[in-house]
Amino acid sequence: MEFFEVVERRRSIRRFKRVKIPEEDVRRIMEAGRAAPTDATLHLWSAVRVVDEGKKAEIARLIGQPHVEEGSDFFVFLADLYRLRELLRFRGRDLAEDRLALLVFAAVDAALAAENMALVATALGYGSCFIGAVQNAAGEIVKLLGLPPLTYPLFGLVVGVPDEDPPPRPRLPLEMLFHEGAYRRYAEEELAAAFRIMAKVTRSGDWLRLLERYAGRGGYFEARGGEMRRLLRELEFL
Ligand SMILES: Cc1cc2nc3c(=O)[nH]c(=O)nc-3n(C[C@H](O)[C@H](O)[C@H](O)COP(=O)(O)O)c2cc1C
Repeated sequence: MEFFEVVERRRSIRRFKRVKIPEEDVRRIMEAGRAAPTDATLHLWSAVRVVDEGKKAEIARLIGQPHVEEGSDFFVFLADLYRLRELLRFRGRDLAEDRLALLVFAAVDAALAAENMALVATALGYGSCFIGAVQNAAGEIVKLLGLPPLTYPLFGLVVGVPDEDPPPRPRLPLEMLFHEGAYRRYAEEELAAAFRIMAKVTRSGDWLRLLERYAGRGGYFEARGGEMRRLLRELEFL
């Protein structure tokens, strides 16, 4: 596949054939993750590959995402400062005490690795889906995967043989996503247009419902905050 075709063809796949991806292809996908840029060569991420059917089923149930079970391989991406602390300790040095910036850049590193993997999976004819829903049961996943302190499950990536071919999902127009030179505030008409463009992604036909459910007051992300903070403290990030 042409590179541009790969980028355009990638979309979130949520139905998979119950077929295993050959190991050599999984390794190519993992190599793509390894090749991603990493801040200051720190490698602030790692991923746990889950292939065991029982474990995948358990995670899928815990987080309410059946496609995690259907897919061939499930990667749980971690912010990983544990390895960094080990490397520093090995040479007699300490990890930074204020770890907020490391955590933010760990999320960037992990996302870059995962997107590289999603693109190579697409190029090889496989499907993938990012799974932020690992946050629905982050504490349980920490236990299930035996994660040490200073590792935190950020999101997952399920990869498998696709059993659907969904149309491309809409995106906001280029002018709303990219600002020329300085941030440009949005005109009311642009906001109205955004709702019209994005209506297609929703079953209800109103993107507001989705925005509100996830990002609105009392929504999903707000509800996650407390447990996320608690777990990040427990795992020595904060
Ligand atoms: C960080 C992140 C988390 C996501 N979490 C989930 C998830 O938990 N479950 C799911 O089915 N899709 C998830 N998605 C997929 C998005 O819903 C999807 O990318 C978006 O609707 C656009 O569709 P497309 O990827 O097909 O272009 C996630 C995507 C990202 C980037």
